Amino acid sequence: MKTVNIAIDGPAGAGKSSLAKKLAFHLGYTYIDTGALYRSVAFEVIRKGLSPNDLERIKDILVDTDISFQHVDGTQRVFVNGEDVSEKIRTNEISSAASTVSAFPEVRSYLLDLQRNIARTENIVMDGRDIGTVVLPNADVKIFLTASAEDRATRRFEEQKDDENAVSYNDILQAIIIRDKNDTEREVSPLKPASDSVLLDNSGFTPEQTLETVLEIIGRKINV
Ligand code: DC
Repeated sequence: MKTVNIAIDGPAGAGKSSLAKKLAFHLGYTYIDTGALYRSVAFEVIRKGLSPNDLERIKDILVDTDISFQHVDGTQRVFVNGEDVSEKIRTNEISSAASTVSAFPEVRSYLLDLQRNIARTENIVMDGRDIGTVVLPNADVKIFLTASAEDRATRRFEEQKDDENAVSYNDILQAIIIRDKNDTEREVSPLKPASDSVLLDNSGFTPEQTLETVLEIIGRKINV
């Protein structure tokens, strides 16, 4: 049976993962968070006390690292060598290390088969940076979701402002600008819209407006 693949790409903080999760729920598809895979590699690198720039050592780590998704109580969790790291990969340190390790072609090709194999077996909504361009060039629907850096920083700031380790708006904005630069300027699979993707700038949108707009786009492309 042919599976349906929906690709959601875009920069950090555009709301890809919350959109992709809601879409998957709405359509009864599986949500695949590819950023979690790069974060898992970064997690292992940091846990072993290595620098995220140390490609030679990172290549050794890849050989010994098994990353998988599993469903636990209805939510998707990510496991590294059998350990559930779903929360541990969400720190600012891991975000920045993930951006660094994701620039290495060796890391990208290691994760490519994993992503494609998942997409082959079920209907999915997959979010990332290069899903429409590289991972699933034949995806049924491709959305490139973006918003201004200021809008994205405001959303991130609001999400974490009451946390114990809250970070200032300016620090978040600077981190977003640096990550955008890393993600768009790297040589391998840079962040860019696929030529057949639908571009959606959701600056000023509520999450509900983004979901409605994307459901309309999907409805025009395929019968769901
Ligand atoms: O979406 P995220 O913030 O969890 O992604 C973490 C990092 O991983 C991000 O800086 C870029 C990288 N990434 C990537 O290069 N390709 C993907 N398909 C997904 C994420």
